Amino acid sequence: MQVTIRDAAETDLPAILDIVNDAILNTTAIWMVHTFDLENRRAWMHERVSAGYPVLVADLAGTVVGFSSFGDFRKGDGYHHTVEHSVYVHRHHHGKGVGKQLMPPLFDRARDLGKHVMIGGVEAGNTASMHFHKALGFVETGRLKEVGWKFDRWLDLALMQKTL
Ligand SMILES: CC(C)(COP(=O)(O)OP(=O)(O)OC[C@H]1O[C@@H](n2cnc3c(N)ncnc32)[C@H](O)[C@@H]1OP(=O)(O)O)[C@@H](O)C(=O)NCCC(=O)NCCS
Repeated sequence: MQVTIRDAAETDLPAILDIVNDAILNTTAIWMVHTFDLENRRAWMHERVSAGYPVLVADLAGTVVGFSSFGDFRKGDGYHHTVEHSVYVHRHHHGKGVGKQLMPPLFDRARDLGKHVMIGGVEAGNTASMHFHKALGFVETGRLKEVGWKFDRWLDLALMQKTL
């Protein structure tokens, strides 16, 4: 499915909110329990954009069906060249190549900013995301055991890393 990848606008925030809140309520992709509100996502987007970091959306004929972004991996000057990304596709559009189109422009934006490594923190049982990241050239460089808890079970965090 061919989508247009572009920078997010304020008017895209309700769609971004819907996608991420669905992931909060129904998946272990994000380890939150309570949904976000629009103000939270607005603040998140402003923080990213004012830091010079991208928030990209996948636009399907005027409908936002996914988004990707990155922020600092950790605080501290020494981490300046490393970012941590997120990527979400609306569940009605999984497996249609939308995620695959959202990532290369994100890599390019990170390279343009002089970033060297991109990290994805992936719940190790999220097989779609693990396969997805491997297909895009990420390698698993660490696994933190039982550092998360959601839906009444412990979750492992796989650190998926790509050298840009
Ligand atoms: C992970 C996610 C972003 C992938 O996006 P997507 O648009 O569904 O993935 P794509 O269709 O672009 O797939 C790209 C590649 O990823 C792999 N992949 C994607 N879904 C897969 C699945 N369910 N099982 C196995 N491999 C899968 C395949 O290698 C695929 O390439 P192929 O189609 O040539 O075989 C999407 O499933 C999603 O939003 N999931 C919920 C949120 C989430 O887990 N986000 C990541 C948090 S770290």
